[in-house]
Amino acid sequence: MLHPAMLRATATLAAGALLLVLAPACDKKSDGTAGTPSAERAASPTIKIGLIASFSGPFADMGKQMQGGVKAYLQAHGETVAGKRIEILTRDTTGPVPEVAKRLAQELVVRDKVDFLVGFGLTPEALAVAPVATEARTPMIIMNAATSIITTRSPYIVRMSMTLPQVASPMGDWANKNGIKKVVTLVADYGPGIDAEAAFKKAFTAGGGEIVDALRVPLKNPEFSAFVQKIKDTHPDAVFVFVPAGEQPIAFMKSFHERGLAEAGIKIIATGDLTDDHTLQTIGDPALGVVTTFHYSLAHDSPENAAFLKAYLAANGAEAGPANFMSVAAYDGMAAIFDVERKLNGAMDADKALAILKGFTAQSPRGPIAIDPETRDIVQTVYVRRVDKVGGELRNVELSQFANVKDPGK
Ligand code: PHB
Repeated sequence: MLHPAMLRATATLAAGALLLVLAPACDKKSDGTAGTPSAERAASPTIKIGLIASFSGPFADMGKQMQGGVKAYLQAHGETVAGKRIEILTRDTTGPVPEVAKRLAQELVVRDKVDFLVGFGLTPEALAVAPVATEARTPMIIMNAATSIITTRSPYIVRMSMTLPQVASPMGDWANKNGIKKVVTLVADYGPGIDAEAAFKKAFTAGGGEIVDALRVPLKNPEFSAFVQKIKDTHPDAVFVFVPAGEQPIAFMKSFHERGLAEAGIKIIATGDLTDDHTLQTIGDPALGVVTTFHYSLAHDSPENAAFLKAYLAANGAEAGPANFMSVAAYDGMAAIFDVERKLNGAMDADKALAILKGFTAQSPRGPIAIDPETRDIVQTVYVRRVDKVGGELRNVELSQFANVKDPGK
């Protein structure tokens, strides 16, 4: 009997080999020649979208939030576009597990013949899937993963979420202008954390601020208390934090609160992942006063956000809890797919799809967004927000904004 790991390896190899066999057949016959995959796609009554994310394990919320955003879009705009029905195939990476994400992507393009690969909460999973998108010539829409470099890994990638340098750099400026002189940085020790640390440091030190310590915590099972004690002992004016949204912000904030850092006069500044709207009520009052920079707040006051929140609730029910930035990126990703399909009249041609995606603009629930045709990354407003109580609920209340922010990491 084969060991499960060998079985997995065999399955991966099989999917990989299939992909190699299929790749030449895909070779851009968008002319509708009978028997080619593009002709099959054109004749298909559905548009197939493979949604790859973690739906179980420590990052299970990511998949659920993205799926919630996809459902909200279909709720608000209907399940057909250009006469074709949208079919969503969800796949759980159990992440962060890049090998699983890659295998799932291979299966989705080879066996299920999806038209789009979407989702990707975690950077290592997005990076693992990038070569599959290139080889299969399948547009890949990133709905969260936020390390700057990701879009450079395949010409078929478009990012609808954010990058960490995009949101962390404005915080460096804000801190300089708000009396913060000495900062300890604390970031998750992988792509987005390292990006956040570098971008914050660049902007903050350029304006005269000083980084007195730079702490990196493991992505898997971080134990925050020793790090938090170190921050207390260093006694900076503030700690700048990036940890991935989900369970880690709750654990960090608990430790910060228990060790009395706020009482010691140490402020928290962070990217909005820390005060993510989905988990903010779980963190509770220790979050009050935390200032973050980010691209989406549930409290954003606009008709587009009101429509999104209404559709989110109708599609997912109150038990799903509040929407967050990942749901919005998924909602906007669906808007981009609908735009492509309307313009291609329901046909599928990856290169034409990319040309359309590169010029995509929208009034998103977060504010105006555009895809930069040069980098395929998103350009958007970054808001400075402070956690406050609104009608008895904790909210990220917007204070000021930086308009048309590009990823400064490229
Ligand atoms: C990422 O892995 O790129 C990532 C994960 C969670 C976040 C932001 C970025 O909140």
